[in-house]
Amino acid sequence: MFTYAELVRALWFILPAYIANASPPLLRGRHPIDFKKKLKKARILGDGKTIEGAIGGIVFGCLCGLIQMYFFSDFQSFFGLTLIPPTYSVIFLLSSGAVVGDIAGSFLKRRFRIDRGRPAPLLDQLDFLVGALVFVSIVYKLSSVNILILVIITPILHWLTNLFAYYSRIKDVPW
Ligand code: CTP
Ligand code: MG
Repeated sequence: MFTYAELVRALWFILPAYIANASPPLLRGRHPIDFKKKLKKARILGDGKTIEGAIGGIVFGCLCGLIQMYFFSDFQSFFGLTLIPPTYSVIFLLSSGAVVGDIAGSFLKRRFRIDRGRPAPLLDQLDFLVGALVFVSIVYKLSSVNILILVIITPILHWLTNLFAYYSRIKDVPW
């Protein structure tokens, strides 16, 4: 289907987006982005989307990208592969795109009257990825093979990390 090298390359590229999506639950934010406001009787976004989480996600995503940038040649020789070199714009667009995509996902869930924290299969796993890919497409054209790999692998990794976050009590629910 696809090779190990292509898988590593795709994961390397998207890593800031994964970190941007994984860090908000650790921050325990208290200030909802929607200021608790409603749109047609349902919360605009809900208590699961906080200002602290959004800013923290972007900051940690960017930090991850800076580490990837700083140790780029070391990582390349470690994996023995030619990796995509991260740039400031790629790093920022991946991180902010992931956060915005996740927020857009919650906006959609609330419009379909799915309560905060209730599962929306595929939307929960892919919203941040779509956001990151759309944002980064402004400056970098990722190959369709890489995009396909990420669309397939992300829900699996998302599910595994959420299971871990649930059992280590970082998250209240395993999705
Ligand atoms: N989180 C946050 N701010 C964000 C995104 C996430 O504070 N911008 C935190 C919240 O504590 C949230 C947790 O990370 O509960 C997990 O995120 P997610 O699964 O996306 O939110 P849910 O609580 O499941 O809410 P929703 O139904 O809107 O997805
Ligand atoms: Mg959720």
